[in-house]
Amino acid sequence: MNQRHDETNHYWNASLYDSRIGFVSEYGKSIVELLDVQPGETVLDIGCGTGDLCRELSSRGALTHGIDYSGEMIAKARGKYPDLSFEAADAHAYRTERKFDAVFSNAALHWMTRPAEVIRSVSGALKPGGRFVAEFGGKGNVGGIVAALGESLRGFGIDAAARNPWYFPSVGEYVSLLEAAGFRVEYALHFSRPTPLDDGERGLEHWLQMFAAGFFAGLTEPEKRRAYAETSRLAKPSLYRDGRWIADYWRLRVAAYKPAAAEGESPDMRRK
Ligand code: BEZ
Repeated sequence: MNQRHDETNHYWNASLYDSRIGFVSEYGKSIVELLDVQPGETVLDIGCGTGDLCRELSSRGALTHGIDYSGEMIAKARGKYPDLSFEAADAHAYRTERKFDAVFSNAALHWMTRPAEVIRSVSGALKPGGRFVAEFGGKGNVGGIVAALGESLRGFGIDAAARNPWYFPSVGEYVSLLEAAGFRVEYALHFSRPTPLDDGERGLEHWLQMFAAGFFAGLTEPEKRRAYAETSRLAKPSLYRDGRWIADYWRLRVAAYKPAAAEGESPDMRRK
């Protein structure tokens, strides 16, 4: 299997992502509605994965450019959608001469642990007056899973908190960062989205393999299997119901505008 290692010590597998985690793009369609893209608008998709939401936006008339840290995801996106534009890039340091009408992101920003740098990239990529519409994991996201991971990995001498690769901010925290970067925040919402996992009894184990591999780094295969089983045992009372796992997802949604050139400037500054 062709796997890749990202900066959060996380191994992405683009084939597993498409076959098992299709719900990521499915849920993403509701944030596409919030973007409300108009035909001919240019949109930068940050963390585009294998490109499904670029495809969705393009079917609505947008001219999209998708970026993702994972070269494997980008290779798969190019294979699936050869007519669309994709690039492997780190959103923390993304700089482009192009200016977009909108920057969009679904289920990706929680992997980027230096949010002020990402917001700077977003601002740099937007035209004055452009909008930033994003959804990602918010405060408390997968809290039950994180707690079970912490307890089970302690038994293997691993400090799970030190390996946690995720950024799940509150509304207040994220809005403050946007405002500090000059954005006008029009909308921000933190909400619970209990998310059923496929694969019955093994659903959480598969989720851990897909999304939380970095926590288990350094363990032997038998140790990993025991750690998955122990994490599942600990999480089961709160997250397993009627024969399936329901992950305790919390989402943060934002829509924010970069000021038009004249906004926020004094009349003196505008004359210059
Ligand atoms: C999420 O979409 O909330 C998520 C996905 C993988 C790991 C952590 C959170």
